[in-house]
This record gives sequence, C-alpha cells and structure tokens, in this order.
Amino acid sequence: MSNTIALILAAGKGTRMKSEIPKVLHKAAGKYMLAHVVDGCTEAGVSQVYAIVGHKKEMIMEAMGSEINYISQDQQLGTGHALMVSKEFLPNDDTNVLVLVGDAPLIDGNTLSKMMENHESGGNSATVLTAMMQNPTGYGRIVKDNNGNLSRIVEQKDGTDEELKINEINSGMYCFNSGDLIKSLDKLGNDNAQQEYYLTDVIEIMNKDGLKTGTFITDVENIKAVNSRVELAQVEKILRRRINEHHMENGVTIIDPDATYINKEVTIGRDTVIYPGCILEGETQIGSGCTILERSKITDCKIADGVTIQTSILVGSSVGEYSKIGPYAYIRPDCKIGKNAKIGDFVEMKNARFGDGSKASHLTYVGDAYVGKNVNLGCGVVFVNYDGKEKHITVVEDDVFVGCNTNLVSPVTVREGSYIAAGSTITEEVPKDSLAIARSRQVTKENYYKTHDRKKVDEK
Ligand code: UD1
Ligand code: MG
Repeated sequence: MSNTIALILAAGKGTRMKSEIPKVLHKAAGKYMLAHVVDGCTEAGVSQVYAIVGHKKEMIMEAMGSEINYISQDQQLGTGHALMVSKEFLPNDDTNVLVLVGDAPLIDGNTLSKMMENHESGGNSATVLTAMMQNPTGYGRIVKDNNGNLSRIVEQKDGTDEELKINEINSGMYCFNSGDLIKSLDKLGNDNAQQEYYLTDVIEIMNKDGLKTGTFITDVENIKAVNSRVELAQVEKILRRRINEHHMENGVTIIDPDATYINKEVTIGRDTVIYPGCILEGETQIGSGCTILERSKITDCKIADGVTIQTSILVGSSVGEYSKIGPYAYIRPDCKIGKNAKIGDFVEMKNARFGDGSKASHLTYVGDAYVGKNVNLGCGVVFVNYDGKEKHITVVEDDVFVGCNTNLVSPVTVREGSYIAAGSTITEEVPKDSLAIARSRQVTKENYYKTHDRKKVDEK
C-alpha cells in the first residue's frame, strides 16, 4: 500500500455536548474519542497523522501530546475550509489522504484498510465511506447517477425532498488522492444554505473534471458520530462490547459482558473468569486462570496467573501467582505482592514489598514497607509510617509472626523468625528469633466491684 497521511477533523465546537471540554476529548471506554480515531489510523498503518484543531486547541494538544501532528484552523468556516488550511501539509502526488472525524471513535483499522484498498484498485481520486441508515436525518446523502456511479453529496439543509429520501449517507470519512484533492480544493466555494465551505462539494468538482470518485460502504456502527451525551453513551456501549467480545474470543469468561468495563489496552490470559461489575483499566495485564470476582477495580496492575481478587481496588501494583486479594482490600500504588500471598478484608497497602506466602488476613495497614516471606500479620496490625513530617520504612524479615493489634513504629526492623506479642507497640529493632512484648502488664484487682461503691466508681 502506498504512503498515507491522515487528517482528523477536530476543530469544531461540539455545542450539543454542553461542555467546557472539547468534544473530541470526551472519553469513550476510558479513552479520548480522538485517541480511538488515532488508533484506527495506526492499525491501518498510516504513517503520519494530523489533527485539525481550532476550538480549545491547546487543551487538545496538551491531552494528545506529540504522538500526532497538529494543524490550526482558527476560524471554522466548514469541513472544506478545514482541508484548505491543511493544503500546505499535503504532497502534490499520489499519496493517499485519509480524512476522518475526531468524534467518530468506532472507526477501526480494518475498515480503513479495506476502504484504501478499494480506493487504489478502483483508481479513484476520492472514495467516500458510506453506510445505509434507516433514519438519515442530519447526514449528507449520497447521490448517484443512473448508472449507479457517485455524482455528488447533498447536505440535509440543501437537499430536495426527493434527495432527502436517500438512505445511503456520507460518514464524513474519505480517502483522497493528494494531488487531485489539492486541485479540487482551489475550486471550492461556499454558496450553500450554511455559507460554509463543504468538503462534500469536492466530489462534484472532481466528477466535473473527469476524475473518478466512488463509495465504499460499511456497517453503520463503524461510522457512528457523537454529537450529544446520549450518543456518547451509545458509542461507549459498542466499544465495550467489542473489547469484551475480543477477550471472550481469546478464551476469557466474562459472566455478564453488559456489566463488565474493560479498557482497550488491558490484556487478559486464557481461562480467567471475570464477574460482573469489574473495571479493568490502564496498562493492566491479567494472567491466565485468574478469578476476578464482583466489583473489583484494577488500574495499571500486573496480575500473575491463578490469582483471585474479590471486590477490591488495586492501583499501580503487581501480584504474584496464586495470591488471593480481598474482599475489600485496597492496594495503592507501588506494591509488589509475591506468590501465594494472602491479603484479606479491609487491608490497605501502599508502596510495599510483600513476600511469597505472607499473609495479612484482616484489618491491617502496610505502608512503606519491606515484608519478607512467610510473614503472618495478625488482625489490626498498623505500620506507623508517618511521624507528622516524614514517611519512614519498616522492615519485617522472613518468617516473622506479628500478633494482633500491633503498631510497628517506623523506621524499625523486625528480624527473621521473631515473634511479636499481640497489642505491642514496637519502636526498637526486634532481634532474630526473639519474642518482643511491648505493652504494659495486666493489673488485676480481685473483687473490685464488691468492695467499691458502684455509683462512685462510675462518677469518677
Ligand atoms: C458532515 C458532512 C456530512 C456528513 C457528516 C457526518 C460536510 C459539509 N458535511 O456534516 O455530509 O454526513 O459530517 O457526520 O462536510 N470541523 C472542523 N472545521 C470546520 C467545521 C467542522 O474541523 O470548520 C469538524 C468538526 O469538528 C467535526 C467534523 O468536522 O468533527 C464534522 O463537522 P460538522 O459540522 O459536524 O459536519 P456535519 O454538519 O455533521
Ligand atoms: Mg456532525
């Protein structure tokens, strides 16, 4: 396939979104709409991608970064005008120019590749991506001559009653021959109902000049554009369904795909089962044979094979093979949990190494810590990592047993094989293989109530 440039139209206001955010920066399935369109270009092997930006262009450029190039269209005088300001970036040769819209995120690389193949094999100067639509109101209509050849595109506001009955619509996406496009743009006017430069008029101009134009029809789902929040939700649902089907085809069980929210970049191994209400996002990788039980949210995590996670939140961390997390655990960034570990209910962990086979089964906070292998943290252990000014590190070596309701006041080290009595507040190093008890002794006063006046005691 020859060299290709993509121009993504993204300069418009998107008034009907009723938003301070430019339309193309609204997210569908966790990703900017514009970024989905860029993905489509990348999948189709497009070498250079330009976004044409105007309204709130700084926000768009900041969000999308240097992954793509930008062309400024400071006044938006129509889709044709958007291309007129792009002319200087187009080569005067046979390069393919894909024109796409930033608010149609369902376009995929496969559809674009097929359209370009069709464009090249037909020797076209322009190929319009079209679809059949039951209710085409609002879209440009594809007008064909008696031989079924594309003659022009007519906009809703300019069409005759007869033309408006046409069900084949213009997606607003095209493939052009760059040199022919440049020539035709010079002839574009704005004599129409909206006094705009219509890109769609290029088709009639090319036909008059004896250049070949054609259509490439696709499923209406692929070209759906977003103009309102209602349409954004519709597109979101389609994207989610596509992602979930992709994983199911690869051997993942998703119990209720309508209630499972997986973002595009997430990878999942075979025989993993995902229960309803889970959100998997960011650069998350999930291994094979995992069970992700209901309502877990996993962001930017690496989960090894055979892990079970239930109703827990995990962010920016890794979990080793066959470990069990939750229910109701909160794993905050920079945790590295080993194999066969157990993190139980209401355990919070942050910036911590947690070794193979170690357990924190209930109600525990582990922050800024190195915890070795086969350590048992009893119920209610707190790593006291903050002194009001700074955070400090706690080290708990292999095979340590920490009794319930213990505070480990950092910086402190608990050496290998030692044992801490329940209720202790540890402030000093605990040597290897020792028992540390750091609490006051119990004082028992026998027959206390019998010898004291109950009322007086209570009043004290
Ligand atoms: C356009 C097409 C119509 C097609 C429809 C598909 C024209 C004249 N009409 O109509 O045939 O069925 O898309 O959705 O092209 N934009 C700019 N600069 C501008 C104007 C628009 O970048 O000066 C961008 C918008 O941000 C948007 C896209 O171009 O992403 C389409 O513009 P819009 O005004 O929505 O065109 P439609 O009237 O929907
Ligand atoms: Mg539109």
